[in-house]
Amino acid sequence: MSSTINLFSPIQMGSQALQNRMVMAPMTRLRAVGSIPTPLMAEYYAQRASAGLIITECTMISPLSNGYINCPGIYSPEQVTAWQQVTDAVHAKGGKIFLQLWHSGRVGHPFLLDGELPVAPSAIAATGTLHTPRGKVTLETPRALETDEISQIIEQFRQGAKNAMNAGFDGVELHGAFGYLIDQFLQDGSNQRTDKYGGSIENRARFLLEVVEAVCQVWESDRVGIKLSPSNTFYGMQDSQPQATFSYVIKKLNLFQLAYIHLMEPNEQDLATRDVLNPVISTFRPLYQGLIITNGGYNKSQGNQILVTNEADLVSFGKLFIANPDLPERFAIDAELNSPNPATFYGMKDQNLENGYTDYPSLKAS
Ligand SMILES: Cc1cc2nc3c(=O)[nH]c(=O)nc-3n(C[C@H](O)[C@H](O)[C@H](O)COP(=O)(O)O)c2cc1C
Repeated sequence: MSSTINLFSPIQMGSQALQNRMVMAPMTRLRAVGSIPTPLMAEYYAQRASAGLIITECTMISPLSNGYINCPGIYSPEQVTAWQQVTDAVHAKGGKIFLQLWHSGRVGHPFLLDGELPVAPSAIAATGTLHTPRGKVTLETPRALETDEISQIIEQFRQGAKNAMNAGFDGVELHGAFGYLIDQFLQDGSNQRTDKYGGSIENRARFLLEVVEAVCQVWESDRVGIKLSPSNTFYGMQDSQPQATFSYVIKKLNLFQLAYIHLMEPNEQDLATRDVLNPVISTFRPLYQGLIITNGGYNKSQGNQILVTNEADLVSFGKLFIANPDLPERFAIDAELNSPNPATFYGMKDQNLENGYTDYPSLKAS
């Protein structure tokens, strides 16, 4: 039976039937002017509605969770109303869409945060730079959260989840990957706390699991997913025992019966930086009983291959969905693919925001 499964096979994700196993990976595009979603964003996501599931770009749960200019939020009534036009547009075309809930933690800067220092589990700076309204800056040492502030951030995730429901999303994905706040708590390179949120693996995983629990009090758990990146080295992320740390978390996540876990493979930069877990999927597949979305550098044949071997249940595509709004239709007939242009991945000041966003041709239009 399993040999007949491919990217085009429908799949039941909890209570939701997905039309195929091609997921659009979450991608920041920085076109939410003033952090409010726009009609252009509704058009962009609706163009990609033939994906089995769309996961939105990472979305701020509070003004202080911001790492980027013109990143959308989900904490104000204006933002909730504006997201509704996105979910309506995707649903009108028969698509399904989850919102990615995000806190950037130490990947922030006072220039983006009204003069406030970014917060993190510990006062340890991420490596790298950020674009701010006052130019490119090196990441600074963040302020370590007090223990009693942590529950407030969990509350913001809960409220963000509620707001996403009010905006008409089909579910939410927690951004637990790529060196942002949830990941910063999990890995000991960024978490040197001595309270119940630091030290042992159990303590470092506590924040992640408490956020999952809070969000699952808002949504049925089969409408909640989480993205993890055990081999990501970006922003100076590291853990002294990644296999043990992520094994603990993934085993614990079984208890929630989530929609899915979304696991990122290392990219070339990660592989060049140090000896990371590779492949991620075969390391963790045996530990998890629910659906797994695998991600990172897949093309059609590699995607089909991983489904046939039953190592994953769905495959997410990032850059290919940027350049090919109708990626499933193109895969179906082995049509030529448009190439993504990295120069327009992120919206810039004084740039035509449609450029490299909604103007990639689909087969029907060309
Ligand atoms: C422009 C761009 C923005 C991204 N923004 C996010 C994001 O907001 N949240 C996230 O979890 N991953 C983000 N990613 C990572 C993608 O979701 C995906 O993991 C990565 O592109 C690898 O998949 P691919 O090789 O199919 O592109 C981003 C990637 C790109 C190219």
